Amino acid sequence: MAEIGKDILKAKALLEAGELVGLPTETVYGLAANALNAKAVAKIFEAKERPSFDPLIIHTDSIQKVKDFVQYIPLDLEVLLKQFSPGPITVLLPKKAIISDLVTSGLERVAVRIPNHPLSLELLRSIDFPLAAPSANPFGYISPTSAQHVENQLGEKLKYILDGGECQVGLESTIIGFENDKLTVYRKGGLSIESIEKVVGKVNLKEHSSSNPAAPGMLKSHYAPKKKVIFIRDFDAHPFDYNPDKVGFLGFCEALPFLKTEQQFLLSPNKDLNEAARNLFKGLRFLDQLDIETVIIELVPEVGLGMAINDRLKRAAAK
Ligand code: TXA
Ligand code: MG
Repeated sequence: MAEIGKDILKAKALLEAGELVGLPTETVYGLAANALNAKAVAKIFEAKERPSFDPLIIHTDSIQKVKDFVQYIPLDLEVLLKQFSPGPITVLLPKKAIISDLVTSGLERVAVRIPNHPLSLELLRSIDFPLAAPSANPFGYISPTSAQHVENQLGEKLKYILDGGECQVGLESTIIGFENDKLTVYRKGGLSIESIEKVVGKVNLKEHSSSNPAAPGMLKSHYAPKKKVIFIRDFDAHPFDYNPDKVGFLGFCEALPFLKTEQQFLLSPNKDLNEAARNLFKGLRFLDQLDIETVIIELVPEVGLGMAINDRLKRAAAK
């Protein structure tokens, strides 16, 4: 086996000592801690200012290891794990007692995923505990897709960020589990519903909101910039309410003719939804740091990853 890199050894040592480490994955960067160490897990909630009712995903590197933490894996979920892991899918499984209530916010199920990033996989292989890791952003704010994003927001609260470059998917994992004997998607994400349905047939979609305790954390307002966010149709209805110098645009493929180019961010000029997903959080962050008051957003086609992109855009606009 090749020698383990210095940066991975550093991350490993800190995690073993119960510290927090910024973790690259293919979806977004995570804020990782030893999932079996309650004190370390508590630090995650503190650093993110995350409410304790919002459970964490645990990360490991093989289906074999997943079995150490859960009572059993229902057949369809095992099929999905085999097909798409490592990758942007998280499954909800009945937890064993070794996983604490702190991780699952008291729920019976634990969320598990195998991230597809060479550095995190190597790190996970080198340790003998799973990593609890939410997205590495302050609770409710835009998720991070580069080490710099993590540094900007949580740098002071973190001992180390393992830099794995820009995230290749750019949207959080798709969360799936059984509800009333039906496969149910709880969060649209980096694995499209179409890809899942090709393997296991029709799945249910759970509408989540702040009033739905069965899907904690999937709050109506999330992924939100500090600026006011409005849909283009609302802008079109009252264009003179806005000073064009103080307006930015996050669009799919075409710029708005009446705004300065510097105030616009196009997710994918070639209309490629994978590229749009990769650019989404970068674009929201870019516009959030401009000297503007309002961000106009445009939804993308509601197919493939477009469904998850639109989900994030709607939450970014919700107040
Ligand atoms: O792509 C991802 O999933 C990233 C990377 C870092 O792996 N992680 C991530 O974690 O997005 P976080 O904490 O930002 O979002 C996880 C969501 C939470 O909103 C939570 O409500 C849901 O997963 N979740 C976790 N455990 C759950 C459970 N037992 N039942 C229902 N929902 C759960
Ligand atoms: Mg998050």
